[in-house]
Amino acid sequence: MSQHVPRTVIVLAAGQGKRMKSDLPKVLHPLLGRTLVGHVLAAAAALDADRTAVVVGHGAEQVTGHLRDIAPAAIPVRQVEQNGTGHAVRIALESLPPLAGTVVVLNGDVPLLRPETVAGLVREHEAAGAAATVLTAEVADPTGLGRVIRGAGGAFERIVEDRDATDAQRGVREINAGIYAFDALRLTATLAKLSSDNDQGEEYLTDVLGLLVGADEPVAAHVAHDPQETLGCNDRAELASLRRLLRDRVNTAWMRSGVTLLDPATTWIDVSVTLGRDSVVEANSQLYGDTHLAPGATVGPDVTLVDTTVGAGATVVRAHAVGARIGEQVSVGPYAYLRPGSTLGRKAKIGTFVETKNSELGEGAKVPHLSYVGDATIGEQTNIGAATVFVNYDGVVKNRTVIGRHARTGADNMFVAPVEVGDGAYTAAGSVITQDVPPGALGVARGHQRNIDGWVQRRRAGTPAAEAAARAGATPSVAPEDGGRAAAQ
Ligand code: UD1
Ligand code: MG
Repeated sequence: MSQHVPRTVIVLAAGQGKRMKSDLPKVLHPLLGRTLVGHVLAAAAALDADRTAVVVGHGAEQVTGHLRDIAPAAIPVRQVEQNGTGHAVRIALESLPPLAGTVVVLNGDVPLLRPETVAGLVREHEAAGAAATVLTAEVADPTGLGRVIRGAGGAFERIVEDRDATDAQRGVREINAGIYAFDALRLTATLAKLSSDNDQGEEYLTDVLGLLVGADEPVAAHVAHDPQETLGCNDRAELASLRRLLRDRVNTAWMRSGVTLLDPATTWIDVSVTLGRDSVVEANSQLYGDTHLAPGATVGPDVTLVDTTVGAGATVVRAHAVGARIGEQVSVGPYAYLRPGSTLGRKAKIGTFVETKNSELGEGAKVPHLSYVGDATIGEQTNIGAATVFVNYDGVVKNRTVIGRHARTGADNMFVAPVEVGDGAYTAAGSVITQDVPPGALGVARGHQRNIDGWVQRRRAGTPAAEAAARAGATPSVAPEDGGRAAAQ
């Protein structure tokens, strides 16, 4: 075994990504739970590097801010003018204390790179004592990419950029992936010799490889087993195809680990999500961020979960949830919207056309139909009637409603917060509850009904309603003195 070689990672992320046509720097575009640069840093994490520098330029503030969130130990290095990949590496090295050991350079826009691929490249590079080792791939369409030029015996010679290549060179399908391991000392010495004598007038990192070969230094080129890993991202169509490839990779891994995906092609799972054994994801579902399904949970079809946990045996159908905690054996949907702070206890139920926010439901509590539950605490085994609104907002502040255990609230209630309904209490249908209801009481808060007999036959004579009333035996009674006008209002 070789002894510990100091390792430095340099991620190149200063480019604008012109073809993205975006106000967001290219490397900050999201791809199933991480940004592009986040994926590259995650792959590089396998190297256990002594230091990681990220070259930033376009959108430097935004990129640096993002790095503080996802990789606080990474050192941002500002490249004010983007004079090429070689220039970027040079200024990164100049900003760090003098280095020995291995320098790993990664393009910031190669998000499908696997940790084991970059780790394997670096291991072979160090074992061979190479001056440089570059990852290459055989691709069907090499347009726009640097071509790998090999000599008669197949030995690596140099890389030629697409725009600087001859027609014959353009025919080469082995491309430079933009992932390299270098011996630090020889890299530093060679970067000093780079010229900008090329079509773009830039310092190309790729020229370092040809210069090393010219100086008889050992340079190796490793062909990636899976060329997909080396795909870059230059526009949003490419971003979409990378997303599909990563989706397939993520979905296959979950299926192999015991999760049922009914329609993997319409199932999008962020890399940050975890799924328990025998959980089921039905068609057209998206699981994002800090979302976790416990064993045996079933979600979908048509479910979006963001930062949401789903307990064992729970079922979520046609729903959108953000920041919700769904307990064991809970039933949600179809057509429910769970907003942040929704916590559903074991066996609770949220039914059709129900919205919840910042609310807790106790074990077995139910809100089955057409309701808004905002800033509420609902006790265990309580049933909320259809079409209930928790009136939480008085126009200035949000207030809380507390409903006790084993309560039965009527349909079409308004709970005007702050208000409490005690354990075991009932409320009458159609009530606007503005005062507390004590435990065990029936709260009634609605107008009394009165019927004005014969009104339809008097005031709507000749209509189908009047005829139906007559057939049912109704008789037009004597008109009140005002001709029924008051009653009709
Ligand atoms: C580069 C390689 C090419 C390779 C391809 C793989 C060079 C000269 N060419 O080409 O051989 O096939 O990647 O995707 O290296 N960047 C900086 N500062 C700069 C210029 C670029 O940080 O001054 C960053 C970019 O943000 C990007 C990466 O370096 O993350 C690669 O730059 P890009 O312009 O995309 O290079 P390509 O033309 O794709
Ligand atoms: Mg590129």
